[in-house]
Amino acid sequence: MPLDTEISRVAIRDYKSIATCDVDLGPLTFLVGPNGSGKSNFLDALRFVADSLNHSVEQAIRDRGGINDVRRRSEGRPRHFAIKLEFRRPAVAGSFAFEIGDRAGGGFTIKRETCEISFGGPGKPRKAVYEAERGKVVRMESSFLGAAEVPNSTDRFLLSSLSALPDFRPAWQAFAPMGFYRLNPDKIRDLQSPESGDILTRDGSNAAAVLANLAKHHEDVKARVEEFLAMVAPGTLRVMQKTLGPKETLEFEQAVTGANRSRRFLAANMSDGTLGALGILLALFQSPNGGKRVSLIGVEEPETALHPAAAAVLLDALLEASQRRQVIVTSHSPDLLDSRDLPADAILAVSAEDGTTSIAPIGPSERSVIKRRLKTPGEMLRNNQLTPDLKRVPSPARMRLFQE
Ligand SMILES: Nc1ncnc2c1ncn2[C@@H]1O[C@H](COP(=O)(O)OP(=O)(O)OP(=O)(O)O)[C@@H](O)[C@H]1O
Ligand SMILES: [Mg+2]
Repeated sequence: MPLDTEISRVAIRDYKSIATCDVDLGPLTFLVGPNGSGKSNFLDALRFVADSLNHSVEQAIRDRGGINDVRRRSEGRPRHFAIKLEFRRPAVAGSFAFEIGDRAGGGFTIKRETCEISFGGPGKPRKAVYEAERGKVVRMESSFLGAAEVPNSTDRFLLSSLSALPDFRPAWQAFAPMGFYRLNPDKIRDLQSPESGDILTRDGSNAAAVLANLAKHHEDVKARVEEFLAMVAPGTLRVMQKTLGPKETLEFEQAVTGANRSRRFLAANMSDGTLGALGILLALFQSPNGGKRVSLIGVEEPETALHPAAAAVLLDALLEASQRRQVIVTSHSPDLLDSRDLPADAILAVSAEDGTTSIAPIGPSERSVIKRRLKTPGEMLRNNQLTPDLKRVPSPARMRLFQE
């Protein structure tokens, strides 16, 4: 099944520890590399785009401690950072790029922003483009409006203002609904406030609502989540949402050895690993309808608190989920990557030297080892053989995010 949306390319300049990065993404990507090398910074760059589109650039920068904590700190003191994302969907493809810098007297300014969409499909192919510089629209090719009709702004993306316009909506649909997860068993364990459960929150604090939503609208998907969960935590038969006065929680049904009965436990009494695994499964399989609501899922270290033997189950879940929507995970687990079916393309290696991050596919000889199925990526991770091919990290001079 083709993905509804594929974020096909990510290019980053001077974002946190990332000086330059230009990588292609497939349905499933593992980011591997030493502690502090920049894996989370890569995910954070993507999350910055989603946060900016869903809330505001102002808030996205403020949440990260201000512009000086977002742009790369280095000797050369880059004053700006830039991100370009490309996406593909059936019959439409496009890109969104921006550069943000500091402003004299404090704060930030959006220096440039561009969006380009190509519509293919059965109709006549056409293009829509806008370019803005320091809040002024300098180019607008759209069948729906002219440059004069667009509000000027240096602290809000134009794409947010134009998200309802059919010409630019596909870019918003690709990049705004990316979801990034750092699941917290304690938050999953706490009593939760009922809500729609359409989208799982970052820490899993609405897991009961998301589960109830699946149970109501996608029983088959909920059953699949339970199947995976039973493989991770043997004896777990079912999981349900349970209302407790004005709050709700999760209730687990577990088999009792030797008895023809089962026992029920509330989330408060469940293990960290079981709750964490359920959180990951809900993140992966939430709102299954063609993945329209959540275009891409980023999960930090999904192996946390899992028994090594559960890693194979987790990998199966990641592979299955990535047929519906794109998945990126950071991981330190060789067990998770211990499969000869994992293509070398699914791995992006991360390293850091002098505080500067390199992110790239692994080198040709390592790729060939995986392709020839001589070793699994997990075995290579154990031997520290998954390192980025530095030839594929662009030099700052070669990094072109905008047409000059
Ligand atoms: N604005 C910045 N400029 C330069 N470097 C930065 C900036 N902000 C953070 N860093 C660097 O990024 C590093 C953290 O990177 P990150 O959190 O992505 O690591 P990671 O690969 O996810 O590691 P782990 O596996 O431990 O989670 C910090 O150690 C810090 O040196
Ligand atoms: Mg990290």
